[in-house]
Amino acid sequence: METENNENDYIWAKVLGLNEITEIAEKDSVEVEVELDDGRITNIVLVKDSSQESGWIAYENKCSHDSENLNDADIDFENHTIQCPRHGAKFDLETGDPLCMPAITPINVFAVKEAEDGYLYLMVPNKI
Ligand code: FES
Repeated sequence: METENNENDYIWAKVLGLNEITEIAEKDSVEVEVELDDGRITNIVLVKDSSQESGWIAYENKCSHDSENLNDADIDFENHTIQCPRHGAKFDLETGDPLCMPAITPINVFAVKEAEDGYLYLMVPNKI
């Protein structure tokens, strides 16, 4: 994975070649691991969503309530929310903010860009 620093303590992390994921259908997902500068590796779910400017949404595969994987979570594309399959907490997919109990802290969500070099990048903070 290559990274590119910017002045805001965030990193554009190169995660996938677009030619590797051409078979991903709309509203389907793929998981990637991102290694941060501090060495921590985290699993991120990328979901193809053409209603987004980037064409993708991305969030860490971990519920903030009790660490359930969110790769099989229900996504409401119209209302831009995600619901944890374990206890039902809902989160805003743009901000990661919890929308109902039992979650009280946000999940990590990420900006995505398809770059001209043919790769998909995630904007990740140095410390998630
Ligand atoms: S683990 Fe997600 S709501 Fe409890």
